[in-house]
Amino acid sequence: MIREILEYPDPRLREVAEPVATVTPEIQTLVDDMAETMYAAPGCGLAATQIGEMHRIFVVDCAEEDEPSDLRVFINPEILEKDGQVVWNEGCLSFPGVREEIKRAERVKVRALDRSGKEFLLEADGLLAVAIQHETDHLNGVLMVDKLNALKRRMMGRRLAQARKNPEGDSPAE
Ligand code: NI
Repeated sequence: MIREILEYPDPRLREVAEPVATVTPEIQTLVDDMAETMYAAPGCGLAATQIGEMHRIFVVDCAEEDEPSDLRVFINPEILEKDGQVVWNEGCLSFPGVREEIKRAERVKVRALDRSGKEFLLEADGLLAVAIQHETDHLNGVLMVDKLNALKRRMMGRRLAQARKNPEGDSPAE
């Protein structure tokens, strides 16, 4: 089921999500809804907090348009290691029509559970590493606007208002 995506400045985007105790069929349904909502948007990442579900879950698909889909599910994700630095032009489904350059670690090592509740370890770089950091921030109530200085934040506010008036030309966002 496609769910409504909360947009900044909805206060629910500031809540800290709770760990998932058990991967139940209800949690799996939530994961499926999240994937469906992300693909419909379209976007390349979605955290549960973005649809008002306060569970530590996010989904990402960083495949290029001409590549087969690569859905990855992270339940109770923990970033164990970060290294390097990269500046990435990021978008976010909760900030429609806005993209901003944000500093992130270049590589991450993450541990999480998959949709079946099985633990996995993943080392990622490039867009996937950026998406993992962006979505983990969402689970802690941290948004991309928090990474900007005051001037850029004001400019973003203006662009957001503009994009709401004229919602065409969006590119896939996290
Ligand atoms: Ni986002």
